[in-house]
Amino acid sequence: MTKFLGRLAGVLCALIIFFSCSNPSEKSKNTQSRFDEKVDSLLALMTLEEKIGQLNQYSLGSEFTGPGNKKGQDSIRYQQLVSGQVGSVLNLLGAENTRKMQKLVIENTRLGIPLLFAYDVIHGYQTMFPVPLAESASWNLDLMQKTAQAAAAESAASGLHWTFAPMIDVTVDARWGRVMEGAGEDPFLQSEIAKARINGFQGQDLSHNKTIAATAKHFAGYGYAESGKDYNSVNINNYILHNHILPPFKAASKANVASFMNAFNDINVVPATANQYLLQDVLREEWNYDGVVVSDWNSIGELVNHGVSADLKEAAKKAISAGSEIDMEGNAYVENLSNLVESGEIDEELINKAVKHVLQLKFELGLFDDPYKYSDPEREKEIVGNEIHHDLAEEIAKESIVLLKNEESLLPIKNAKNIAVIGPLAKDKDTPLGNWRAQAIANSAVSLYEGLEQSLPKNINLKYAEGVKLSIGPNNFFEEQVINETDNSGFEEAKKLAENSDLVIMALGETAYMSGEGRSRADIGLPGLQKELLKEIHAINPNIVLVLMNGRPLELSWEDENIPAIVEAWHLGQRAGTAIAETLLGKNNPSGKLTMSFPRTVGQLPIYYNHKITGRPSTAPGQVFYTHHTDVDNSPLYTFGFGLSYSEFEYGEIELSQNSMNENENITASVSIQNISEVDGYEIVQLYIQDLVAEETPMIKSLKAFKKVEVKAGQSVKVDFSINKEMLSYYKSNGELSLEKGKFNVFIGGNSTVEHHQKLELK
Ligand code: BGC
Repeated sequence: MTKFLGRLAGVLCALIIFFSCSNPSEKSKNTQSRFDEKVDSLLALMTLEEKIGQLNQYSLGSEFTGPGNKKGQDSIRYQQLVSGQVGSVLNLLGAENTRKMQKLVIENTRLGIPLLFAYDVIHGYQTMFPVPLAESASWNLDLMQKTAQAAAAESAASGLHWTFAPMIDVTVDARWGRVMEGAGEDPFLQSEIAKARINGFQGQDLSHNKTIAATAKHFAGYGYAESGKDYNSVNINNYILHNHILPPFKAASKANVASFMNAFNDINVVPATANQYLLQDVLREEWNYDGVVVSDWNSIGELVNHGVSADLKEAAKKAISAGSEIDMEGNAYVENLSNLVESGEIDEELINKAVKHVLQLKFELGLFDDPYKYSDPEREKEIVGNEIHHDLAEEIAKESIVLLKNEESLLPIKNAKNIAVIGPLAKDKDTPLGNWRAQAIANSAVSLYEGLEQSLPKNINLKYAEGVKLSIGPNNFFEEQVINETDNSGFEEAKKLAENSDLVIMALGETAYMSGEGRSRADIGLPGLQKELLKEIHAINPNIVLVLMNGRPLELSWEDENIPAIVEAWHLGQRAGTAIAETLLGKNNPSGKLTMSFPRTVGQLPIYYNHKITGRPSTAPGQVFYTHHTDVDNSPLYTFGFGLSYSEFEYGEIELSQNSMNENENITASVSIQNISEVDGYEIVQLYIQDLVAEETPMIKSLKAFKKVEVKAGQSVKVDFSINKEMLSYYKSNGELSLEKGKFNVFIGGNSTVEHHQKLELK
């Protein structure tokens, strides 16, 4: 009895410490020490089982975002929830549902530790913004921060605390379906966008009821899946790892991202989920990261499939020892960690460390002050899907459109009296919502046809023919799409319409679920019979504006050669149709630029602008002894950073404030940009640096800075960039940052093929 009373007094003392939370109103890192004491006192109260529970995460509710089948598991999971064996939940949504679940756990578990509710809020919660690859083409960091902020506000009002975004995997192979989730091929741009989106999700105060915790994923290398096949092995050298893959993650860590997520892949023979080097040496030791690391969906269990663990127990041991802290849907920790501790195979201290990170996040979110603060049905009604967010979706959609070709200024549309709109995506209200669409309402986007109807003057005759069906099977997150490869019965009607029109707008591309997770493609041309339709229409009426809706770069060589105007309109979200129509009509001047190269043919993949020079970049004319394919040019069809405008810009000479600098100096590079057209426009001015001689083979050039500037018709604007030593350094294969004296080229221009440069010497 006395022993019991003594324990009770101890428990009460500790409870007083951890419930006396003052309001955490600063950024997570600054509040660390304040929470340390509370975290420690709570940890001291917990049994080993309760600690392991904090590391266990399940998918509950109607959605399931990975393979498996939880049928029949509900009652077991319920028991685990009410006995403190679950610390976080994904896919359970809505203010009511989350409140109920939280109450169940708070009221039934011994310590009443609140649950964390997580979800993949990738490009909006209910209001859909453009898919991230599209958004990145806007190069507008402010706007991307705002869309993340709006997505956070909607999610938080629906009871969520944590998003599994942003995905910051650098991607160089358009066959990989998940390129739609990230910001493309450049590590610097990917890093800048990562920071903007993390700041948007997390704000200044994680405990605010409009912010949510963010996740840097997938750590690391997932974007380099061999042959672009999802979940495939990653075999890369350490230069690529340190210079291409890791920088965005380092930037995310610096931006205080609340969590990191493992990748499914193995990387140079070690699965990312059990990767000591990545999770310990780099993340914890080098970057001093102190947030939580969550596995990917059953990626701990998949260590058995990878062939590095004989069973789930060994997988659990490897993963926790490496530093994977929360087990998402793997059942590996909840079933094995306590045995592993009891048998002395792992030290309980490993578990303590992981649990501390989970509790710390719960404190930062303010859940110990009020576990129900995010689950507010009134706020949910008011915030989710509101008009202001839809307006924002339209604004960024307009900036994300990339004009790829515009022969003889066919666009903006002038003088056409009879316009035909043809294609399976023209009236599609679902495709623009894209994949990974959270709680988007199916078929709720403004279609291209609707956008045109709204925007076109009434005296213009608009007619429609579908032409061909694209996807003829299931249209959802889980199942393979079935593409129409045979039925061309709509061709004749479409051709007749084209024949009687002055202008044909063709809406072709991929449906929402043709890119995304598990959607790798070996042929990235227009799927199904679309190209055949395009060719037949072209033979009748070549006055075509091709509007593309897709989640990845496509192979468009024939289209580029034959179609006079091509508009890359991605999966642009809620108001896609309005944004596209206003662009076609010139009410919006396109300003987006590609963040991933479009290949001429799939055989060029992977293709990216910042490649190595090689020992044989060229040879004598007519000879074969240089780096090339004999059947295709070395360049991509559309390069990184490329995009046209209705304005025309001319770049002046680049001026450097000094032609040499030492490592303690900053110099200025300036250029003036003149708009020689009669249309006001925005230009994305890009600065690239090439290291001419280095100890390890340098990249041909790499993006180091950019600015998006407005240049009024007939006027010019001077743009200045500051160059510092970081911009002249690179990571050597051993991971060390290296600044080497010598010569550099500084390029400033409107895309990555810019040749205009000045020489700079680092002394
Ligand atoms: C994906 C992750 C996602 C997780 C949870 C996995 O299949 O790879 O990006 O966050 O599912 O839905």
